[in-house]
Amino acid sequence: MAKFERPLVMGHKGMLGSQLYLILRKLYPATVGLDIEELDITDQKQVEDVLSHHKPEVIINCAAYTRVDACESNREIAFRVNRDGPRYLAQAAARLNTRLVHLSTDYIFDGKKDSPYLEEDQPHPISVYGESKLRGEEAVMETLDDYLIVRTSWLFGVKGPNFVYSILSQAREGKTLKVVNDQVGSPTYTADLSRAIVKLLELNCQGIINFCNYGSCSWFDFARAILRFKGMSHVEVQPITSQQLNCPARRPHFSVLSLSRIKSVLGAYPRPWEAALAELLSIAD
Ligand SMILES: NC(=O)c1ccc[n+]([C@@H]2O[C@H](COP(=O)([O-])OP(=O)(O)OC[C@H]3O[C@@H](n4cnc5c(N)ncnc54)[C@H](OP(=O)(O)O)[C@@H]3O)[C@@H](O)[C@H]2O)c1
Repeated sequence: MAKFERPLVMGHKGMLGSQLYLILRKLYPATVGLDIEELDITDQKQVEDVLSHHKPEVIINCAAYTRVDACESNREIAFRVNRDGPRYLAQAAARLNTRLVHLSTDYIFDGKKDSPYLEEDQPHPISVYGESKLRGEEAVMETLDDYLIVRTSWLFGVKGPNFVYSILSQAREGKTLKVVNDQVGSPTYTADLSRAIVKLLELNCQGIINFCNYGSCSWFDFARAILRFKGMSHVEVQPITSQQLNCPARRPHFSVLSLSRIKSVLGAYPRPWEAALAELLSIAD
């Protein structure tokens, strides 16, 4: 069992970071949480100074520029945050002899496969966001021997904004929902992912590992499940295609991640996404 007392969550105000920070703080009261106000990861000198000050044994990088469509028109910011930021964190980690856990995405794949993506499958991003995240992974791998890259997908959690809250608020406003039915992936609950990250840290897991909730669906199926679990099945949801939605960024049509490695490391599959969603909806408005 790896020993650490002072993990540092980078991006602790984000959807995943805030959940992970809460869980880590209970287990390790000296956990440090930083976000852009305390540390801008695109500023190399600041990264060196702030991390030298905190001297964490492990950094979990949840900070990222995650606005997938905005990345298309803000390419430079996307690469600064999602590629250069992780590189600076990795360089500082190397100097301080600190472990780095870095979060990545299913959007590094093009979605042309018809079975779940394995960790060793060849990435081929089709958006600026996906490409910038892939370059971030590469920067971490080039810089460090001891790293863990956790690829995940379709996050939902207590902290918004996210798809779950967006569907509920549109339904409550009486809008007819139009939801994409030709992108299939695996929704992932930030609480489940956070607990898995803690276990992976304690086991000193290294390399690349996928984590998402078990099972897969389209965004349309996901929306229907959200409404069903909230007793709002009467709300009409129209299935549409990605082409009809016409977003600036292309997304993979199929981006389900294989859970074989996580099952062999943790001894069990993550729970199904429907069970995780039901839990969130039982505590969220
Ligand atoms: N959301 C998903 O569905 C999804 C799916 C697959 C993978 N992932 C990956 O999972 C990780 C966590 O995602 P998330 O959805 O929790 O992200 P998020 O909610 O957008 O949180 C990211 C945090 O990083 C901060 N940040 C942005 N630029 C920064 C900078 N230059 N320096 C320091 N902090 C900065 C953000 O601050 P501001 O809010 O002020 O910008 C925010 O607090 C990311 O690596 C993401 O790529 C997410």
